[in-house]
Amino acid sequence: MALKKAVDVKPAAGKLGILLPGMGAVATTFIAGVMAVRRGLAKPIGSLTQMGTIRLGKRTDNLTPKIQEYIPLPQLDDIVFGGWDCFPDDAFTAATRAGVLEEKLLLQLKDELSAIKPMPAVFQQAWVKKLDGPHVKKGASKMELAEQLMEDIRTFKATNGCDRLVAVWCGSTEVYRKPTETHATLASFEAGLRASSDDIAPSQIYSYACLKMGVPFANGAPNMSVDVPAIVELARKQGLPIAGKDFKTGQTLMKTILAPGFKARLLGLAGWYSTNILGNRDGEVLEDPESFKSKEVTKLGVLDHILQPELYPDLYGHFDHVVRINYYPPRGDNKEGWDNIDIVGWLGYPMQIKVNFLCRDSILAAPIVLDLALFMDFASRAGMSGVQEWLSFYWKSPMTPEGLYPEHDLFIQLMKLKNTLRYTKGDELITHLGAEYYD
Ligand SMILES: NC(=O)c1ccc[n+]([C@@H]2O[C@H](COP(=O)([O-])OP(=O)(O)OC[C@H]3O[C@@H](n4cnc5c(N)ncnc54)[C@H](O)[C@@H]3O)[C@@H](O)[C@H]2O)c1
Repeated sequence: MALKKAVDVKPAAGKLGILLPGMGAVATTFIAGVMAVRRGLAKPIGSLTQMGTIRLGKRTDNLTPKIQEYIPLPQLDDIVFGGWDCFPDDAFTAATRAGVLEEKLLLQLKDELSAIKPMPAVFQQAWVKKLDGPHVKKGASKMELAEQLMEDIRTFKATNGCDRLVAVWCGSTEVYRKPTETHATLASFEAGLRASSDDIAPSQIYSYACLKMGVPFANGAPNMSVDVPAIVELARKQGLPIAGKDFKTGQTLMKTILAPGFKARLLGLAGWYSTNILGNRDGEVLEDPESFKSKEVTKLGVLDHILQPELYPDLYGHFDHVVRINYYPPRGDNKEGWDNIDIVGWLGYPMQIKVNFLCRDSILAAPIVLDLALFMDFASRAGMSGVQEWLSFYWKSPMTPEGLYPEHDLFIQLMKLKNTLRYTKGDELITHLGAEYYD
């Protein structure tokens, strides 16, 4: 039974351009991955839009289409890639440097990858202390830099014959700064751009330029690129989706899988110690305490929101939560994370869980970039504007409307995502009540 009228979603016709500010390890692993999948060289493992299914109706109906058959999404063949970086390396050179994918695979994609050259970046070293790239725009003001980005977007769209564009920030983590009065309204932000205010980060110049050009923007880093009132106001005004922040990949993914389980069984928590070693450029950037502070903020919030200490003071009122990241070059992109979890059981008896996750950062992040690009484009075609909370599934620190706490539990996030898709089709939402089977 249909609950409501389906949302009128425009078809996914024509080409979708995916714009990536920051073309390092994650971005090139994503681009090369899509190319490899298109050629049948590998499978898009980890991507909900490519491999996920969605149950419709009762369990007895046996109706479980693939998500890509259920809602209109672009075909991978209809995607073109572009982006910006403060280094001029083309996508083949950058992917080779990142060292995530094997040379054998990259060589098969060499011509296609080499053709993707980043446009010069809007970059200020004050915001990423450990980087100093030469491939950078010059402008008399931050507004002028935003206008140059808009011109890039116009040219890219025309040159590549794109029907629609979407942007996913894959650039470095900027230093942590709280929003200021400059970010309070769109008018104050635009005045700040004209005056080249120090409060405005490069990533915010990109989000501003993209939204002005009608391009939805998702933010893969912990930066405050879109979750400041001025940019939310611009997204609403333009009728465009925004989402963020910080891809949920390794340790935080594990946290949002395990913590809901402890809470479900009412097991207490005395402490959670998380440490990581990684040796890619992201790890180097995060060595700077100010960039790490941005990461720490997005990583630390997770447990408090899942465990709700205010509701369960005896179980979660006093736990210690520590997160460390250490730059260790020999590991490259292959991060190793250790978690020591001190849990508490019946009558207060302590127990320990150790998790040792030998992950590959960009391999975990690449399918998230693909899904976000396709779902953000879908949201845009469905007329969904402002913060896309239904995409919380992908974020370490999901954005929410003012005053609403974020949902971190991975399984609630997935249910929310799939129910949003059912809702757009006017199909019945799945509550898992199941009473109908016993009538
Ligand atoms: N890989 C993961 O699991 C993961 C998870 C969550 C978040 N992230 C975030 O994703 C981002 C990308 O990670 P990565 O491993 O690809 O890092 P990377 O260092 O390999 O790539 C980042 C790229 O951004 C470029 N850059 C920096 N500032 C820029 C600017 N203003 N404009 C254009 N380009 C700019 C750098 O030159 C670099 O090439 C980082 O912020 C990272 O924290 C990654």
